[in-house]
Amino acid sequence: MALLEVSHIEKHFGQTKVLSDISFSLDQGQSLAIIGSSGSGKTTLLRCLNFLETPTSGTISVGGAVIFDAAQPAAQREEELRQKRLHFGLVFQSFNLFPQYTALQNVTLALHLRDEKGARREEIDRAGMELLEKMGLADRAAHYPHQLSGGQQQRVAIARALALKPDVLCFDEPTSALDPELTGEVLKVIRALGQQHTTMIIVTHEMAFARDVADQVIFMDGGVIVEQGPAREVIEAPREERTRQFLAHYAET
Ligand SMILES: Nc1ncnc2c1ncn2[C@@H]1O[C@H](COP(=O)(O)OP(=O)(O)OP(=O)(O)O)[C@@H](O)[C@H]1O
Ligand SMILES: [Mg+2]
Repeated sequence: MALLEVSHIEKHFGQTKVLSDISFSLDQGQSLAIIGSSGSGKTTLLRCLNFLETPTSGTISVGGAVIFDAAQPAAQREEELRQKRLHFGLVFQSFNLFPQYTALQNVTLALHLRDEKGARREEIDRAGMELLEKMGLADRAAHYPHQLSGGQQQRVAIARALALKPDVLCFDEPTSALDPELTGEVLKVIRALGQQHTTMIIVTHEMAFARDVADQVIFMDGGVIVEQGPAREVIEAPREERTRQFLAHYAET
């Protein structure tokens, strides 16, 4: 059974249909790259999975349980929303760290808030330090975001997302705000997460990265999935003409 099952998701903004009949599944420990040109609906899809947007129709299941069904009454859905969101973690293009908190505080803030009585203070800080170590940032724990490079900030953001132990970790163009050198260090940690079988969905413009790190690739265009399949097949031998045209832009540059 797949860990994540997305079935017939649609999203309208007013009269505009931004996502159409999006269906895919993802197994535990697998990673999925989503590629496609600007405006094709990649961010909207990630936002729907993270319940930052409400799909107009469709269902989302995690571990065999339906966690979202657009056909359900809204009130019933709202009730469970906070809980449901914990299934997914999201790392944005612009890291969105809290500027007034250190790297470690950014990673542990949500966990400390949840720990109302402060009973697990030290345990939480230790877990936060472990995550920073995993991101190669053990020596930056006490630094504030403005004292960190973009690549370091993004790795703190990844640690922060991991701290909540999401079932699926989502990335929206995690390196597009970074120069090539810093891009490399962030891709390296995402690659390592893949090797440790973190279940991930990665929206990216890095085609070589998608080919080498992802198990599956989805190519989106105009709010629909044009092609999906094993990463290497979709990127090196696409079946659809539209996918070929899209990938040709990357071959030229
Ligand atoms: N809140 C909104 N209200 C109305 N239209 C929206 C809203 N959010 C996104 N859209 C539209 O939905 C479409 C898909 O946008 P989306 O941001 O998902 O694309 P994308 O594939 O992530 O593009 P990019 O590669 O540039 O990030 C676009 O036409 C966009 O203008
Ligand atoms: Mg986007």
